[in-house]
Amino acid sequence: MLPRLGLILALLCRAPLIGGSWADPGQSEAAVLSIQLPEQPAREVSPFFLSLTIDANLATDPRFITFLGSTKLRTLARGLSPGFVRFGGTKTDFLIFDPEEKPTAEEEVCQNLLAKQDAADVCGFRSMPMDVIEQLQSQWPFQEMVILWEESRKRPRNTTITRSTVDILYDFARCANLHLIFGLNALLRRGNQWDSSNAQLILNYTESQNYDMDWELGNEPNSFRKKSGIYIDGSQLGQDFIQLRQLLDSYSSYRNAKLYGPDVGQPRKHTQKLLRSFLKSGGKVIDSVTWHHYYLNGRTATREDFLSPDVLDTFITAVQEELQLVDDTVPGKKVWLGETSSAYGGGAPQLSNTYLAGFMWLDKLGLSAKLGIDVVMRQVLFGAGSYHLVNASFEPLPDYWLSLVYKKLVGAKVLQVNLSGEDPRRLRVYLHCTNEHHPKYREGDITLFALNLYNSTKHLQLPSSFSSRQIDEYLLLPHGEDSILSKSVQLNGHVLKMLDDEILPTLREKPLSPGSRLALPAFSYGFYVIRNAKVRACI
Ligand SMILES: *[C@@H]1O[C@H](CO)[C@@H](O)[C@H](O)[C@H]1NC(C)=O
Ligand SMILES: *[C@@H]1O[C@H](CO)[C@@H](O)[C@H](O)[C@H]1NC(C)=O
Ligand SMILES: *[C@@H]1O[C@H](CO)[C@@H](O)[C@H](O)[C@H]1NC(C)=O
Ligand SMILES: *[C@@H]1O[C@H](CO)[C@@H](O)[C@H](O)[C@H]1NC(C)=O
Ligand SMILES: *[C@@H]1O[C@H](CO)[C@@H](O)[C@H](O)[C@H]1NC(C)=O
Repeated sequence: MLPRLGLILALLCRAPLIGGSWADPGQSEAAVLSIQLPEQPAREVSPFFLSLTIDANLATDPRFITFLGSTKLRTLARGLSPGFVRFGGTKTDFLIFDPEEKPTAEEEVCQNLLAKQDAADVCGFRSMPMDVIEQLQSQWPFQEMVILWEESRKRPRNTTITRSTVDILYDFARCANLHLIFGLNALLRRGNQWDSSNAQLILNYTESQNYDMDWELGNEPNSFRKKSGIYIDGSQLGQDFIQLRQLLDSYSSYRNAKLYGPDVGQPRKHTQKLLRSFLKSGGKVIDSVTWHHYYLNGRTATREDFLSPDVLDTFITAVQEELQLVDDTVPGKKVWLGETSSAYGGGAPQLSNTYLAGFMWLDKLGLSAKLGIDVVMRQVLFGAGSYHLVNASFEPLPDYWLSLVYKKLVGAKVLQVNLSGEDPRRLRVYLHCTNEHHPKYREGDITLFALNLYNSTKHLQLPSSFSSRQIDEYLLLPHGEDSILSKSVQLNGHVLKMLDDEILPTLREKPLSPGSRLALPAFSYGFYVIRNAKVRACI
């Protein structure tokens, strides 16, 4: 009975609701963190851990690829570098390259700008003319409907892409300091085998342009039959990957290029069987095993789902099953989330593009690094639906800012942290070495990040060994009256926004005095850099 009485008292004593959240009564017990400090980190993820995708459906009408010529979008993408940008998705298997085809008028404008840029060897300072971009933006809502409808209801159509399409994509990646991964069409078949002739046309072209990029073949082969009527079993797909590896080896530019796959969907029974036989036959030629994860269907996902520890924990099982399967078939091979977001089908409208989405995103980043995933590619940087980081007006959304803070503060080395005194499923904590490239922080510093799924403020207490250390807080809270469903976010009380198309704001820390308890308001997330921590595993 006592805990219940305690709860009632806590409710009675709580300060009134101010500005949509509970004021901190300041009396609650702090949850205690225990940190293991071994000589070596528990794991180390790729320096490109947080990576991005551009869905191939952006080329459904190749005119819209020219959005990638926007200076503002390039600035935002560069903020999240270094990393990969994967160009893939359902449309991957319906894009056909035609080097003879003329570019669209929009692509031509964009490409002419690229040519001028190359001469000056600068990136992004010569944006697409505003009138071209604005006209495309006005047509985008309709195009988005076309894209989402095509993907959900019927078999996609083939679309021709041109040299310009590839140029614009490559130039975007290069100028954003992201490494391009290009998905090749696996549904071009000759009999039972992959027909590589269109891939050869692409490779001949990209090699002639000295484009340095990595490759994939096909997207979600587990649903090929549904999308195209063609069934390819795992073993054959493995053979197709071997054929592609041999083809890449025949190009001096791509002998060292990496090949990733097979980009399977969620590990359900039939998909696991396909993945297993794929890895047995083709596992030796891939550099990382890629799979996709979404928690929910975007049409039915609710606000409660985004805050549910049960929903967040489903990811643990999914990762463990995937890692087990890889360990059984190609032990030691790196495993990547090749495409991932909150909800499939373009995201959950009015949820996936708000502060709320950050709970799934940050928890996925935390769990992935902890459990053994090497790279996580977020669907999408920019594109159709609501799970994008940057919206159609090129305005960054809360998950963009969350990614930026993560990128700046969180390093590749993963440490162990546990919490007692509160339910660790509701007060979720993760610990890494601080990003060694951060100008302000030093080797040995550590970054804690935490998510509070309780409806009241929670306090965290660091182990006493850190009680003399200064802590820099980076607390992200929603801004404005939409509260948790806000599309705007504040860092330590300052609303985050770009200064202009070429300048991102400085992420300003809030120094806490040594020994402070960390206060995390109801339904919020934040980062804490423990300075001068001198943790050996981080040196
Ligand atoms: C955290 O808990 C796990 C599982 O109970 C345990 O294996 C690990 O050693 C603990 N780590 C710390 C830092 O206490
Ligand atoms: C796409 O093009 C390929 C190659 O020409 C063809 O085999 C396939 O049937 C086409 N798919 C659709 C949906 O038109
Ligand atoms: C690609 O280039 C090679 C070498 O120049 C050539 O032999 C081959 O026919 C080209 N492939 C295609 C599909 O045009
Ligand atoms: C993008 O976000 C900004 C700021 O939240 C908003 O003003 C604008 O209407 C959004 N654009 C679109 C196309 O949703
Ligand atoms: C907070 O959550 C608890 C249990 O989950 C619930 O009983 C209580 O009514 C909630 N309080 C508010 C203010 O929503």
